[in-house]
Amino acid sequence: MAGPSLKEQLDELLGKLNPGSVVGLDIGAHSIKVCEISGSTGKIKLEKFGVFTLSEAAIIEDEMQKPSEIAEGALEALAQANIKSKTVCLGLFGPNTMTKRLSTPEGTKEEIEDHVLWEAEQYITFGADDSQIDFFIIGENEGGGKDAIVAAAKLEVVDSFCELLKEEAKLTVRLVDLNVIALSNAFEQIVGDDIDEYSQGTLLLDFGAQSTKIVVYKKGGPIFTKEIPVGGGLITEEIQRQMGVSYEEAEDLKTTPDENGNLPEEILNIINYQVDLQVAEVRKNINFYVTQGSAERVNYCFITGGSSLLPGLIDKLTVVAGIPVERLDVFSGIKINNQKLDFDLDHLAAISPVALGLAMRKLG
Ligand SMILES: Nc1ncnc2c1ncn2[C@@H]1O[C@H](COP(=O)(O)OP(=O)(O)OP(=O)(O)O)[C@@H](O)[C@H]1O
Ligand SMILES: [Mg+2]
Repeated sequence: MAGPSLKEQLDELLGKLNPGSVVGLDIGAHSIKVCEISGSTGKIKLEKFGVFTLSEAAIIEDEMQKPSEIAEGALEALAQANIKSKTVCLGLFGPNTMTKRLSTPEGTKEEIEDHVLWEAEQYITFGADDSQIDFFIIGENEGGGKDAIVAAAKLEVVDSFCELLKEEAKLTVRLVDLNVIALSNAFEQIVGDDIDEYSQGTLLLDFGAQSTKIVVYKKGGPIFTKEIPVGGGLITEEIQRQMGVSYEEAEDLKTTPDENGNLPEEILNIINYQVDLQVAEVRKNINFYVTQGSAERVNYCFITGGSSLLPGLIDKLTVVAGIPVERLDVFSGIKINNQKLDFDLDHLAAISPVALGLAMRKLG
């Protein structure tokens, strides 16, 4: 590859950043989240958080169907959070992104970099030449080489988001990351010293609106990541269809319980049916990691994302995964500026990890 590697470019950029200056920007299919953090590894505090709910089908896969709404939404979320910085770390996602865990043989820094990039190119299904490729060294492997995670995204997708944010929102994308990597980084900070235990094998599942993100965390980093096209949006669609209501009404019906915390029975029936289907789909994709006796078996499962709040999900997942499943307790490991943040904490914990992980990129 000609010119400075992406890693070098990133290092250079990182060197220029002031602490606290990078805003995490997570453009989700359901809502845009922004956050600003303070502190350093082990002592991170969520200072500011903002969220903007998008209208129906503003993003489909990684294509922006309503670009102006997305740009305005990002600005509204920043204004709501009272964030002044215009410099963001943007999270990418979708079919034109990929990660791969690699092991290199022993070698000099340059040889290792060359090896990682050469090998990574074999796995990029959307074309290595048209991709932005980045990698992180996780640690030493038994052969004296390094373990690395490669993250790649199709340039066209990176550019479409960066240009829109620049032109319509005057935001500068200083860094890009993949949402699955951001989730993994946030997880490390949230669990703190317990990471050694979880590093033996933990499943992270982010139940969003349009997709569910699967991360298998092992030996100091993600060993497998995947996005599957199931999520809360399918349940909303089903409520719209069966009840003959609008997207917004269906969202309301799904997420607003009565004073006793219960949802209407017909809504619960739709949720139950859909959650069963979605859990079965997740199970297919995690089979290798939850099967008894599998060499890659994981011991724990943490769930996050807005749809992790769906009733019945934890119980159903526990049954199919056969390991303990719990919601990721974000604020057990990350402090929160209570004076400035007026959110329902369970909801904030569910929707914030990716944005938090993106804002953490300044930690290097
Ligand atoms: N209390 C709740 N109960 C059930 N579902 C909820 C609740 N709150 C939010 N959701 C659902 O969570 C989804 C949004 O979650 P999240 O913000 O994690 O998604 P996103 O990041 O915008 O989407 P994606 O990750 O797929 O791009 C929506 O489908 C929403 O209806
Ligand atoms: Mg999301």
